[in-house]
Amino acid sequence: MTLKELKIIPEPVNIASKEDTFILNEKTLILTDLKLKKVAEQLKEILLSMFGLNIAIKEDLQTKESNNVIILKISNNEKQINPEGYTLIVTQNRMEVSSSAPNGVFYGIQTMRQLIPTDKIGSKNIDLEFSIPCVVIKDYPRFKWRGLMLDVGRHFFTKSEVKKVLDLMAFLKLNKFHFHLTEDQGWRVEIKKYPLLTEISSKREGTTSQRSFRSNQRSKVPLDGIPVSGYYTQQDLRELIQYATERFITIIPELDFPGHTTAALAAYPELSCTGGPFKVSTRFGIHKEVLCIGKEKVFEFTQNVLNEIIEIFPSNIIHIGGDEAPTKRWKKCLDCQARIKDEELGSVENLQVYFTNRIADYLESKGRQIIGWNEILNEKLNENAICHYWTMNLKQVLEHVRLGRKVVISEMSAVYLNYPYNIIPLERAYNYEPIPNELEAKYHKRILGIEACLWTEFVKNKKTLEWQAFPRLIAIAETGWTPKNKKNFKSFQKRLEKFNKWLDLFKVSYAKKEEYLL
Ligand code: ACM
Ligand code: ZN
Repeated sequence: MTLKELKIIPEPVNIASKEDTFILNEKTLILTDLKLKKVAEQLKEILLSMFGLNIAIKEDLQTKESNNVIILKISNNEKQINPEGYTLIVTQNRMEVSSSAPNGVFYGIQTMRQLIPTDKIGSKNIDLEFSIPCVVIKDYPRFKWRGLMLDVGRHFFTKSEVKKVLDLMAFLKLNKFHFHLTEDQGWRVEIKKYPLLTEISSKREGTTSQRSFRSNQRSKVPLDGIPVSGYYTQQDLRELIQYATERFITIIPELDFPGHTTAALAAYPELSCTGGPFKVSTRFGIHKEVLCIGKEKVFEFTQNVLNEIIEIFPSNIIHIGGDEAPTKRWKKCLDCQARIKDEELGSVENLQVYFTNRIADYLESKGRQIIGWNEILNEKLNENAICHYWTMNLKQVLEHVRLGRKVVISEMSAVYLNYPYNIIPLERAYNYEPIPNELEAKYHKRILGIEACLWTEFVKNKKTLEWQAFPRLIAIAETGWTPKNKKNFKSFQKRLEKFNKWLDLFKVSYAKKEEYLL
């Protein structure tokens, strides 16, 4: 068995393979550490639902049984101190996954799954025996932030659709689900203190469904007349968080302030500079209506919303958006002008950092940290705020990194999954390197990782979501995990052919070679 034939994604750090095989069958027993009970149950469920094997679990590592066993253990001798790292050893008698923490064991299982041959699945009279190659795999991630953002503001996706995304993320060893919950076109999270956010802001009457954002054409484009609505109750979100947590994924909620707030302003126009009235937007692009930074009730509102958000989401990091907030309204607003004067901000350009810092300080007082899109950068920005880079001013971003700021990379031209395959081909998504060449090695640790983004202006359903995301998300997951010098697009393509079999099992509507090689 050569290294190539194992075909694992993401490619592990180190694989040593042998000639022998382990036979997995119904007599195989899972022996597990008590702390790994949930992980063991997940493995049992995979073996049952995908391979038809009903195998037993025993919570006992002291047992004499040492033949035909799968061992899951937390190992303090584990040299691997990275809690996401693991060792997977397959011998003729056993398969063993060990790590210093449950995360690592979970990832070891994701690798182990890929060693089980899928070719017998679905065939009749299967003998329920699977030969697994003997290997020693030592593995750990390159980056600690390996994310996917899903925009549910432009189009809503159900709880079960989101769970499927989380399942696929876990299989790819991704660990941050960035939930973009609010947009000009829809507010998707229940906030008990502001019931109109769900009653009014979660519904729009239709969509101006053109791809061109040219403003002089907008008024001529008719509405499609298909209403779009939906939101998650706080209970729904708790259920999703639990589901994600069991898969070692942190859900990072994004409440996008002060721009991209037209839907919220439709319900609470007093939070704007002009007072409205507004409608939940039916078109895309940058909107001039934003939160008024001059009015104290805007801070009251954002803090009250965030109070409920941090009650629901255990994530230490909260995304506060901050992208594409035009200053047009602030320039003419007496309240905003008074704020500039009172706070000696100098110009309208500094209103956003004033807002961001107040929110950052508030969340810090509650033990949380903010991340925001790169437009939040400013020399006065709170030093703990993480920058989420997506476009334009990379030079400025790197200056901040050199001064100590941490960054997550979502370069628009490489990891925006909503772009067509002729603009971001699979190879471009795969070969994109998140650490900029010009950044000195001593600062590399401040690049926390990579996050793919799926904006949903033109992604109306699960089928399109999956088609846009797969296979490019698989490529980006490998960048997040695999050492740079082990990445190879040709090898990836070969491994992808095998991985597609898994996507078939998950019933994923992925783009086929002839579709993405335009
Ligand atoms: C963005 O794409 N507006 C972050
Ligand atoms: Zn104002």
